[in-house]
Amino acid sequence: MTDVLTLENLTAGYGRAVVLQKVSFNLEQGKALALLGRNGVGKTTTLNSIVGLTRYHSGRVMLNGQDISRLSPERRVEAGVGWVPQERGIFRSLTVEENITASARPGRWTLEAVYDLFPRLRERRQNFGNQLSGGEQQMLSIGRALALNPKILLLDEPTEGLAPIIVEELLASIRRIVREEGMAAIIVEQHAQQILAITDSAVILDRGAVAFCGESAALSADKATLGRFLGIGGEE
Ligand SMILES: Nc1ncnc2c1ncn2[C@@H]1O[C@H](COP(=O)(O)OP(=O)(O)OP(=O)(O)O)[C@@H](O)[C@H]1O
Ligand SMILES: [Mg+2]
Repeated sequence: MTDVLTLENLTAGYGRAVVLQKVSFNLEQGKALALLGRNGVGKTTTLNSIVGLTRYHSGRVMLNGQDISRLSPERRVEAGVGWVPQERGIFRSLTVEENITASARPGRWTLEAVYDLFPRLRERRQNFGNQLSGGEQQMLSIGRALALNPKILLLDEPTEGLAPIIVEELLASIRRIVREEGMAAIIVEQHAQQILAITDSAVILDRGAVAFCGESAALSADKATLGRFLGIGGEE
C-alpha cells in the first residue's frame, strides 16, 4: 500500500539554523499519527516542513509517492496537504461560511458535512472570524482545512489554550475525522494519552530527532518512554 506521506531523512530548518535532524517516518492511507515531544523540539517545524515553510538541507518529503520537496506551499496545498496552523490562521474579516467556502474544493467534506461535524459553526455561520470564541476559531480552522478535501490533515496543537470541556469536544470531533471518516492525519498534541487513544502510530521528537516511532497503543503503555521524553508519569 502506498504511503500517503513519507519523510525520508529530512534535515531542515530556518535559514542557516538546522532544527530537524534526519527525521524519517511514514503514514499509510487512512491512518492517524500523533507527533509528540516537549516544547521546542521541532513539532511545528516538522509540520512547516511538510507544508513547505522551511529550508531543506537534505532528505525529502513524499505525498502519495510523489516528491513534493521542491513545491511551493501553494502547490503543496493543491497537491493535498491540509494544514491547521498553531495560530489557527482564519480570516477574521470574513464570515464563518466565507472562511469555509473561500478555498473549498469538491469532495466528501462539503459545507454541510463540516456543519454536521461542528454544529456550532452552523449556528455562527454569519458571524465574522473575529467574533468567535477560541474553541469556535479552532473548529473553523479545522473545518476550513477539511473543506479543501485534502489527502492529509496536519493539526498543530488543536486544543491549546482551550477550556477542558471544549478540549473534550474537539478531541471527539478529531476522533470522528480520523476514526470514522478515515482521514489521514498528523496531530501535534500535549494531551498525549488522549491523542494516543485515537491515533494508530506515534512519533516522539527530542531536540529535532526522532526518539520514538511505533504504535500508539504500545507507547501508551510504555511509561518509561512517556516519562523520559514527555515528562508524564503513570497517573493517567
Ligand atoms: N521561524 C523560525 N526561525 C528560526 N528558528 C525557529 C523558527 N521557528 C522555530 N524556530 C526554532 O526551532 C526550534 C523548534 O521550534 P518548533 O516551533 O518547531 O518547536 P515545537 O516542538 O513546535 O514547540 P512548541 O511545543 O513550543 O510548539 C526552536 O528552537 C525554535 O526556537
Ligand atoms: Mg509548536
